Amino acid sequence: QKLDIELAAIEKGGYDHFMLKEIFEQPQTIYDSLRGRLDAKKGTLTMGGIREYADVLSNANRIVIVACGTSWHAGLVAEYIIEELCRIPVEVEYASEFRYRNPVIGEGDVIIAVSQSGETADTLVAIESAKEKGAIILGICNVVGSSIARASQAGAYTHAGPEIGVASTKAFTAQLAVLTLTALKIAAEKGSISEQRFQHLLDELEDVSDKVATALELNDQIKEIADKYKDARDFLFLGRGYNFPVALEGALKLKEISYIHAEGYPAAEMKHGPIALVDENLPVVFVATKDTYYEKVVSNIQEIKARKGKVIAIITEGDETIPAMADDVIIVPEADELVAPMISVIPLQLLAYHVGVLKGYDVDKPRNLAKSVTVE
Ligand code: G6P
Repeated sequence: QKLDIELAAIEKGGYDHFMLKEIFEQPQTIYDSLRGRLDAKKGTLTMGGIREYADVLSNANRIVIVACGTSWHAGLVAEYIIEELCRIPVEVEYASEFRYRNPVIGEGDVIIAVSQSGETADTLVAIESAKEKGAIILGICNVVGSSIARASQAGAYTHAGPEIGVASTKAFTAQLAVLTLTALKIAAEKGSISEQRFQHLLDELEDVSDKVATALELNDQIKEIADKYKDARDFLFLGRGYNFPVALEGALKLKEISYIHAEGYPAAEMKHGPIALVDENLPVVFVATKDTYYEKVVSNIQEIKARKGKVIAIITEGDETIPAMADDVIIVPEADELVAPMISVIPLQLLAYHVGVLKGYDVDKPRNLAKSVTVE
C-alpha cells in the first residue's frame, strides 16, 4: 500500500493531482503535436498521415466533424477555422446523434473523427457507418493504434501523451493544434489562403507554447479567484467566435470537477434566455480576448454589469476597456484569433481545478464520469 502511494506520487511528478500536472504539461504537449510537422522558418507544413488524401480533402464537398465531450468542443473551434481558411462547409455533430439519425452522407464528404481515447463507442460506430456510405474518414486521436485510428483511412495523431485525469485538458489543446495544422494543410492545397497569411499562422502556431507557459503563470491568481467564487450555485461562461467553444469547454470543466451548475453560451445568445439568471450572485466568465468580436463582447459585458452580475474576464494584455468594467480580469498574451483558444482555455482549466480542490473533491476521478465511454 505504501509503495502504491509513493508510486502514484512519482507518477504525478510533484503535482498534487494528474489534472494539474496535465494542465502544466501543455506547453510541451502542444509543441510535441506540432513538432516534425510545422517548420515556420522554412514556411513548410508536413502531415504524413494525410498526404495521400490531401487532394480528396481539399476537394471535399463538405466536412463533418464527429466527436463527444471535450473533443466535440475542439471540433467546434475547428469548424470556425476550416470554414475561414478553406471555404469548405463544416458541420460539427455529436457522434451519438449523428449515428442514429440516418444522416445524408455520400462520396465527396469527409468525416473528421476527433477522439482522445480513440475508443469512444458512439464516435467509432458513427464513422464506420459513414465509411460504408462512401465518406472518407480522417481520425484525430491521441492513443496510437486505437479503434478509431484504425478505422480511419487518413489521420494525424495528437502527441499529448497519456491523459490520466478524467477531465480532458492537454488532449483538448493538442487537438486544437492538430486541427489547425490540418486546416492550414487543406487551405494550402486548395489555394484558399494567401502565402502571407499562411506564413503568419505558422509563426503564430510556433509561438503558442510559450504563450501557454505565460498563461500558466496565472495559477496563483486564478486560485484566489476560485476561492472568491467557489460557493456560487451557478456559473455562466460566455464567448463569441473562436472563443465561443472555449466558453462551452470552461463550463464543462467546472461542471465535471466542482459539481457547480455551469452553462456555456454564445455571448449574444444570452439575451434569449440565460440573462434571466443574472443577479448579484451569478459569476459570469467572459472569454474576451482581442479579436474581431471584441467590441461586441464588450457590450455583452455591459449588459451583464447592468444586471449586477459578477464579471470575470479573460482578456488580452494591453486591454484598458474591460478592466474598468469587470470584477476580475485574467490577462493572457496576445495571439491571432485562430490560435487564441489554445491560450484562453488555460485559465478556465485552472479555475475548474482550483474550485474542485477547494471544495474538497477528487478532481482526478469526478463522480459518475469515465475517462473513456466504450458503451452506449
Ligand atoms: C468522456 C470523457 C471526456 C471526453 C469524452 C470523449 O466523456 O470523460 O473527457 O471528452 O469522453 O472522449 P474521447 O476519448 O472520444 O475524446
